[in-house]
Order: sequence, then C-alpha cells, then structure tokens
Amino acid sequence: MAPKGTGPTREAARLLRQRMEMGEHELFLGGLTRQQALALAAEARRGAASTPAGSASTRRPDRAPRAETPAAPRELPVLSDDYTELRASALACTRCRLSETRTQVVFSDGAVDARLVVVGEAPGANEDETGLPFVGAAGKYLDLLLSSVGLSREDSVYICNVLKCRPPGNRNPMPDEIEACAPYLKKQLELIRPRALLAVGSFSSQLLTGSEKSALGRLRGQVHSYEGVPLVCTYHPAALLRNPKWTRSFWDDLQLLRTLLDSA
Ligand code: URA
Repeated sequence: MAPKGTGPTREAARLLRQRMEMGEHELFLGGLTRQQALALAAEARRGAASTPAGSASTRRPDRAPRAETPAAPRELPVLSDDYTELRASALACTRCRLSETRTQVVFSDGAVDARLVVVGEAPGANEDETGLPFVGAAGKYLDLLLSSVGLSREDSVYICNVLKCRPPGNRNPMPDEIEACAPYLKKQLELIRPRALLAVGSFSSQLLTGSEKSALGRLRGQVHSYEGVPLVCTYHPAALLRNPKWTRSFWDDLQLLRTLLDSA
C-alpha cells in the first residue's frame, strides 16, 4: 500500500467517504493490515473535515492550492434590498481571492418571481465563461430532471450558487470564501421569497440547513426549513452523472419537492 496521503491512498479515502455518505457506516476493510486501515481512515477523516460531504461534490479537493493564504473577508457593504442593486454589487465584488481569478461573476439565471430556487455550489469553467449558472453538462441534466416535474428556468425556477465566482481548477469552495459570499445568497433568497428551495450538493445543503458536519446522505430525503421556506436537499447533478445509482434518490427528492410546491 502506498504511504499515507499519496495518490492511491487519497483515492481510496475518497471512495471510503463516498460510501460513508451513502449511509454505509460499517465498512469491512478486508485485505488491509491494521496500520493500513488506520492510515486510510485517518485520510478519509482529514478529507471529510476539509471537504463537507465531498463525494457528492463536483469539485476536486486535491487541487486546493496549499500556499493560498485564507484572506479575511473584507468588510461587506450593507446589501441593498433592491434586486438590481444587489446584483450590481455582487458583480463588482472583491471580498475574496476568487475575484482575482474569475472571468465573470455568476449571479443567477431564471425568473426573479420563481416559485422554486435551486442552489448549487459554485461556477465551473463554462459558467465563468458565460456568466450563467449551470450551463455545462450537469446543468443540462439538471434542466432535464426539473422539466420531468414540470419546472423550468424560463418561468418557475431561479438558479444560483453558494459561490458567485469560480474556484480555480474547480477546487472545492473554501470556508472563508463561503463566508464572504453567503450574504449575497441570503439576500437573494430574502428578495425572491420562493415557495420552496432545492439545495443540490453538499455545500449548499450544509449551508442552508446550518448542518456543516452532516453528510448529504443524511440531509436528503426530508423537508428542512430555511428561514421558514421548505427546503429539500439532494445530490448534485454532476454527482449523478458520475454515480447514476443515485438518480433514484434524486428522483424521490424531486417528487417530495413537487408535492411541496403543489401544496404551497
Ligand atoms: N456546478 C454548480 O454547482 N454550479 C454551477 O453553476 C455549475 C456547476
């Protein structure tokens, strides 16, 4: 077995975390020595601590630039209650390091009077390029799944992300970046006042439920409340593309969401 923290160990740890997220809390590590099993478990714990429920994430934790200094978020100006002004301030934001590497701020897409707000993680390369959320393969899949329950960004859905700027190399959002950006999301939700919320992936699910330590597998499948708005958490569409067996659970979550919207 490779020494602690190297590629194969990290990959094995990632798979381990993935299985834990899927609710398997007793794992049989046959074929490993006690020392190897302990090293693997320690690596998985380290990853879980730095990557909230990472396996359902679309990001690449390995790519986090180690030398990056966690800059303290700069002072947030009072955010406007006017949607256009709020958007303008986000587009000009320099609160965190991501403003230095982004091409465009990705604020949102969809109708501002939408009944449903979908919250993802962070823009990827396509979104950074176009300025619109969820325009890549995962976004197209999300649109397809939403349309299966009669929802679309043309009329009923507003889509945005926890982070408005792309983390370089698609790495995971860092805690201080989430802290710096979260007030924009909070204000967006306050102004849109949707009937229901759908959090896709670990980062938005943990932020909106306030359960930073909970695995996505535990958060999904139930109705939470965000400031009084019913909230359903589910897998990220990019995770579904990689793990099609989660599609059934996503589908169940979508049915739950549809029921909420129908009764709202
Ligand atoms: N993944 C996300 O979470 N958001 C996007 O906008 C694109 C991909």
